[in-house]
Amino acid sequence: MEKRELTDAILQQKFDELERKNKESLLGGGEKRIDQQHAKGKLTARERLQLLLDEDSFQELGKFVTHRAKDFGLDKEHYLGDGVVTGYGTVNGRLVYVFSQDFTVFGGSLSETHAEKIVKIMELAMKNGAPVIGLNDSGGARIQEGVVSLGGYADIFYRNTLASGVIPQISAIMGPCAGGAVYSPAITDFVFMVENTSFMFVTGPNVVKTVTHEDVTSEELGGAQTHSTKSGVTHFACANEVECINQIKTLLSYLPQNCEDDAPRLSYAPANEKREALNTIIPSNPNQPYDMREVITGTVDEGSFFEAHKNFAENIVVGFARLAGRSIGIVGNQPAALAGVLDIDASVKGARFVRFCDSFNIPLLVFEDVPGFLPGTDQEWNGIITNGAKLLYAFSEATVPRVTVITRKAYGGAYDVMNSKHIGADMNYAWPTAEIAVMGAKGAAEIIFRKEIAEAADPQAKLNEKVEEYTRKFATPYRAAHRGYIDEVIYPDQTREKLIRAFAMLENKVATLPKKKHGNIPL
Ligand code: HXC
Repeated sequence: MEKRELTDAILQQKFDELERKNKESLLGGGEKRIDQQHAKGKLTARERLQLLLDEDSFQELGKFVTHRAKDFGLDKEHYLGDGVVTGYGTVNGRLVYVFSQDFTVFGGSLSETHAEKIVKIMELAMKNGAPVIGLNDSGGARIQEGVVSLGGYADIFYRNTLASGVIPQISAIMGPCAGGAVYSPAITDFVFMVENTSFMFVTGPNVVKTVTHEDVTSEELGGAQTHSTKSGVTHFACANEVECINQIKTLLSYLPQNCEDDAPRLSYAPANEKREALNTIIPSNPNQPYDMREVITGTVDEGSFFEAHKNFAENIVVGFARLAGRSIGIVGNQPAALAGVLDIDASVKGARFVRFCDSFNIPLLVFEDVPGFLPGTDQEWNGIITNGAKLLYAFSEATVPRVTVITRKAYGGAYDVMNSKHIGADMNYAWPTAEIAVMGAKGAAEIIFRKEIAEAADPQAKLNEKVEEYTRKFATPYRAAHRGYIDEVIYPDQTREKLIRAFAMLENKVATLPKKKHGNIPL
């Protein structure tokens, strides 16, 4: 055999051996472990990446990394890659950095080296301005490594914080996520969970039982349903992993690569922008609900509305859409849930979304129909003051183009909060059905005409008369329009065209905030 051929053969042999070892180790010992993962209704770390990334785009980094631990027999058990697959690739042609934890290696637990691999891709992502997507499936800190593993988590949390507002960070929870491990996803911008196979909690059901004597399953305590409806920790609950990964790709299509970039813009040929269906959405009875999603979908590019945080605080709707091909963030009060009132959860949900859009140059569109803040001891004692102020603060500091359409009620403090011109909105439109007032006509009449009503021969008739008087004077958009607080009163069917023009006009908006280290949002 020629010398050259011999060298090639040896190299090939070495390569095959490494490939075999790598396959066995990274997949946690071969086919059996893959089957275990599939039997739980879960894909393997690599299968997930295959689904996420464009074909042949994945470039793996740190494939041969192994842990450095010596205690508890770990010195005899090494798996190449150490339980996490990291690298970069593209999604629909756009660069992303990824890590995908491999539950089949030590339960995907986080060792010192596992953490180093994640930190490496986070730093690359920050330097090169592209999103990081973390596919989490891990038993938390690698117990055998002790504080070294805790340090590894802290190194990740620190990078998550530094990267916040610089590049989009997306977390998918595709298995357990327990202990302090939940705090990395919590700092990221969007959290996806898979129903029935993933859970997140700071302390699991056993600890809960010991401390509070509550009997609760993992699913009840921290499953996708719980976090998408009760706690709001997750923004998207997905039926399975394939749906989850597809949703991540859809989300990315609305986002820029980093805070210096603009979101991708689809081509759009101007057409007839009149939307007559919008004329018939508002019921003639001002107290009757309607679905704000109909207003949103009736206004934006067809099929483009992508709602986030759908099942949490349903009295406010947030999500991304496109208007004439341009990516926008939408916040809408939802009269179909709690009459669209602002409460603690709705304020926090709205505020976080507004801040995300502002961080990443995504213009904001607000549809407003809000009867005020929710009264009651529950809300007051749990801090509606501080929490409501978050939404106020988030809108006030946003410098992206901001447009509001008042469809019906804009009452009280909520008028100010929901992107009014007074707090920096660029354009405010109102439909003729808008009622802009300190409060609803009945409440107002009962307070300011209390004496007159009490002294009347027929108090009910007097009240009705005063309600009508108040409604005529204040429950219209025209008082605000006379002042210039409303730029234009428009018919619903004109909304889309007006908004396309307004956002085009605002495209080169420059607004700067006073120089400061950072503000102090009421957390
Ligand atoms: C090392 C771990 C591990 C861990 C699981 N494994 N978690 N190894 N460190 N944290 C190993 C198991 O020993 C097992 O190895 C394999 O992974 C699969 O685990 P199973 O228990 O068989 O799987 P399952 O029944 O699906 O249960 C998954 C689980 C459970 C719910 C995640 O393993 C579990 O409760 N693990 C511990 C979770 C935990 O308390 N982590 C620390 C949290 S504190 P073999 O060899 O048998 O296959 C934390 C602090 C972070 O994370 C601090 C940041 C501030």
